Amino acid sequence: MSATPAQAAARAQELREQLEHHNYRYYVLDAPEVPDAEYDRLFRELQALEAENPALLSADSPTQRVGGRVLDALTPVKHRLPMLSIQTETDIEDSGAVNFDNRVRKELGLAQDAPPVEYTAELKFDGLAINLRYERGVLVLAATRGDGETGEDVTANVRTIRVIPLRLRGAGAAPPAVLEVRGEIYMTRSDFAALNAAQAAAGEKLFVNPRNAAAGCIRQLDSRIAARRPLSFFAYGTGEIGGWNLPDLHSGVLDAFAGWGLPVNDDRAVVSGAQGLVDYHRRIGDRRGALPFDIDGVVYKVNSLALQRQLGFRSREPRWAVAHKYPAQEEMTEVLDIEVQVGRTGAITPVARLKPVFVGGVTVTNATLHNEDEVRRKDIHIGDTVVVRRAGDVIPEVVRALPERRPAEARAFEMPLVCPSCGSAVRRDEDEAVARCTAGLYCPAQRKQALLHFASRRALDIDGLGEKIVDQLVDNGMVGTPADLFALTVPALAALERMGEKAATNLVQAIAACRDTTLARFIFALGIRNVGESTARDLAAHFRDIHALMAADDMRLQQVPDVGPIVAQSVAAFFAESHNRAVIEHLLQAGITFAPIAESLAPAPGVAGKTFVLTGTLPTLTRDEAKLRIEAAGGKVTGSVSKKTHYVVAGEEAGSKLVKARELGIEVLDETGLARVLNT
Ligand code: IVH
Repeated sequence: MSATPAQAAARAQELREQLEHHNYRYYVLDAPEVPDAEYDRLFRELQALEAENPALLSADSPTQRVGGRVLDALTPVKHRLPMLSIQTETDIEDSGAVNFDNRVRKELGLAQDAPPVEYTAELKFDGLAINLRYERGVLVLAATRGDGETGEDVTANVRTIRVIPLRLRGAGAAPPAVLEVRGEIYMTRSDFAALNAAQAAAGEKLFVNPRNAAAGCIRQLDSRIAARRPLSFFAYGTGEIGGWNLPDLHSGVLDAFAGWGLPVNDDRAVVSGAQGLVDYHRRIGDRRGALPFDIDGVVYKVNSLALQRQLGFRSREPRWAVAHKYPAQEEMTEVLDIEVQVGRTGAITPVARLKPVFVGGVTVTNATLHNEDEVRRKDIHIGDTVVVRRAGDVIPEVVRALPERRPAEARAFEMPLVCPSCGSAVRRDEDEAVARCTAGLYCPAQRKQALLHFASRRALDIDGLGEKIVDQLVDNGMVGTPADLFALTVPALAALERMGEKAATNLVQAIAACRDTTLARFIFALGIRNVGESTARDLAAHFRDIHALMAADDMRLQQVPDVGPIVAQSVAAFFAESHNRAVIEHLLQAGITFAPIAESLAPAPGVAGKTFVLTGTLPTLTRDEAKLRIEAAGGKVTGSVSKKTHYVVAGEEAGSKLVKARELGIEVLDETGLARVLNT
């Protein structure tokens, strides 16, 4: 028996509410209540009901989120209240915040000793501004900013954005008769990367950056395509309001938004005075690269709406808000040349020499291009104008070339056929992206890199053996292998460029001192392909003796936990080279000795099952060594301090973890204290 129209209408209403609730839990709170299959079942039931009873269809139905009609053009819409822009403090230092606070205080006529002004500080999302109009809680119109007076109606596309409620939730106060919400449509970096990967796979054109992708998607004429684009949204302000007694504070407006199910970013903060703004700018700046989406700065707003009204506007900009930018993370520059570098394992890496450009807070002159395929894929020519990106502390990269600006004399990059350092053949195996010089340690460039690696901090840690000196030692034929380092004398070293008697004496001492080491560091120092620090430790713990390791065949090697066929093959191949075995014997003859590992790896009573957190820099142990010792003694190392933590091991420049430990009354150990607890 089929349902009566009234029953169908009631059921449709119920389904819509449930679906929007699950949608909110899933997309806004990131905390789904039901499995996807349950959502899909409810969704299909509603689709079927609406198909049978077309009269039930409504614009706020979740079924409308998949898009529909294809438009000929976007319709212009006049904003009821203009969408303003905001003044930008270009000064990237603290003074940007201080200048703004000074201006606000002056315009409010505050005395020198008046209390600090309260602000809301928010992220400045790098997307596109949008105005969402809700009438009696239902989304009726979404418009782009346009010129600020007139934008474009993009309602059909905005309905497909899952984080945007089609109907406001009644969790807090009932939504007002009219509520215009202003905010930013954006795309996360991972969604952007996935979208571009899909575009590439389909042979479609790539988007330039997340902001352009978001803007392109929102102005789509076909909302079914928009529905497949992973867009997001954060609310940050209001347009026209009807039937709502606004809260006193801007922060209260944002909290009310959140209560209605609108996404509001959690990194907003209420801060006090210029210092509060400076701290916020710095705090967010430190985390900028780790955020899941791009921001180009932060926004400060006077928190009191009464003070906002008092401050008013100057031309088209509010006096109560300012954007404080960070240095741009992308800039354009020119590729002056593409050179190749030879790495420790012979890998030949193309490197772009760039016209110096200030990006992400530093001047960039070089950027790795990784390998030949990468140069081809990005279609980078010598002479091209390119976009360079440096986000956070990551190394600068060439994002793309601008072929439309390519000069006639631009040249394509050719991988050299012979090694630029030693003239030996360059080979690229079929299944490898990397081309390599085939000469091994006979190639001076590889020998230099091998020596630098041998001396590096996590290997034998020879202080003062840097690139300039290694270059000279190899070029003058004074050092061929790491073993030759131990034969160096003060007079021989003092004769090098940029070396005095003093530096030479220090270096000879540093080389002598590195003889006392651990087997794990030594294995790592050898620079065996595919053997990083942690594999070196596993090998040391398993074989406990360098000759046992040298004699091990593929099968024995694969018995080591975490050692698979590739690593085993690299290790076996390394020791199969008589040249490598000879170097090791020379090193042992030069007096390299290994600290016994037996005692330090014994389980310590009272440590088993205890949880440790490491913070800051310890005087002699690296973080990994400390972790290894704790684990060997039966303890566990975790990343964050909680009531369950037994010990916090704190070194120099320990930060918030130490503070937390003190708050929770957890025992804090220094390195000596750790050794005592571990019985070593
Ligand atoms: S407030 C009258 N807050 O920055 C003040 N704008 O305004 C209106 N933007 O294109 C802007 N994040 O879309 C404000 N947390 C935020 C923002 C923000 C990004 C954008 C906005 C506009 C531009 C300049």
